[in-house]
Amino acid sequence: MNLEKIAANFQIQGAIDRVTQLGEGFINDTYVIYTKEESGTNYLLQRKNKRIFTDVPAMMENIRKVCTHIKAKVIARNGDPMREAMTLVPALDGKLYFEDEEDEYWAVCVFIGDTLTYQSAKTPELAFQGGKGIGMFQSMVSDMNEPLTDILPGFHNIRYRFKQWDAVLAKDPAGRKAKLTKEINWIESRREEMLRFWELVENGEIPTRVTHNDTKINNILFDQQGEVLCMIDLDTVLNSTCLNDFGDAMRSYTNTGQEDDENLDAVSCDLAIFEGFTRGYLSQTIGFLNEKELEYLAFSARYITYEQVLRFLMDYIDGDNYYKIKHPEHNYQRTLAQYQLLTSMEEQYPEMCKIVQTVTNELSH
Ligand SMILES: Nc1ncnc2c1ncn2[C@@H]1O[C@H](COP(=O)(O)OP(=O)(O)O)[C@@H](O)[C@H]1O
Ligand SMILES: [Mg+2]
Repeated sequence: MNLEKIAANFQIQGAIDRVTQLGEGFINDTYVIYTKEESGTNYLLQRKNKRIFTDVPAMMENIRKVCTHIKAKVIARNGDPMREAMTLVPALDGKLYFEDEEDEYWAVCVFIGDTLTYQSAKTPELAFQGGKGIGMFQSMVSDMNEPLTDILPGFHNIRYRFKQWDAVLAKDPAGRKAKLTKEINWIESRREEMLRFWELVENGEIPTRVTHNDTKINNILFDQQGEVLCMIDLDTVLNSTCLNDFGDAMRSYTNTGQEDDENLDAVSCDLAIFEGFTRGYLSQTIGFLNEKELEYLAFSARYITYEQVLRFLMDYIDGDNYYKIKHPEHNYQRTLAQYQLLTSMEEQYPEMCKIVQTVTNELSH
């Protein structure tokens, strides 16, 4: 594979100097295209992961809609549209992607230089910035009416998950069900509660908006002063509830241990991180979230964590077909560690609700 040749298929300004790999992404393969002009634009080249994203053209069209909308917002507030929004670069034929001879999909966007990124948010201050980044993104697309293609059907939809769950339990392909009575009951005893929440999304009391769906802090670019520039990695933008972004961020940000921690005592929900993130998030979103969204904000952390317990346990019962495992009991270990996080959230739920309430009151006055 000749990266320079692939890069040459895009509408790049200036002569290409070199193409170098950027870090090691989990999902896509990412490269930087440097052009010869010292002060010219550089570009980001990505091979999109076809196994996860089965309809790359539809995904790129989703990204285009979101970028166009955000760019207009940035211009309206006198910001810098080349730094505070992502800029897609089309291929020579005008498409938003290039398909190579091996049927791999490539896409290019403008490389935003002079930025800071963080790999994790272990302080309340950084969690605040993370919340601000996601909140800013959601706020800018909160008035977007163009529908997006649902490129990940059933994503964070617990009704859909229960269908998969019921089917896997009925089959019990790995013969593991009999020794998991207690763990299966963790899921079943909360089924009604989770479905009640999802019904509010289905009946529109909790509205469907544009969401990011990959809220890790390394998907936010910061300027050299540490201020949020923009959210990147828009591959997973979808129409869903904002609460899914919030809940998923809290599932990963607040965990004091690892997702698959062997030491369950290390796993808990850190309320200071929860508060930092919530403050940053609500500082951007309080103006458009409705009462039901605010009421269920803290609950969404439990919802998404519960879904993850279910998915790990389901994969274990299914014989480990979805998540990569490092040893035969890995999915079971993940189940226990996520369940520990879930119960920590349940124990601290009154405090979590109080934080949301306090911050909401402060921002409303
Ligand atoms: N437009 C951009 N400008 C500058 N750096 C970027 C840009 N897009 C991505 N990056 C950098 O590349 C990394 C990987 O890109 P990302 O789109 O997040 O891929 P992945 O889906 O593999 O996580 C990001 O974490 C960020 O550091
Ligand atoms: Mg990323």
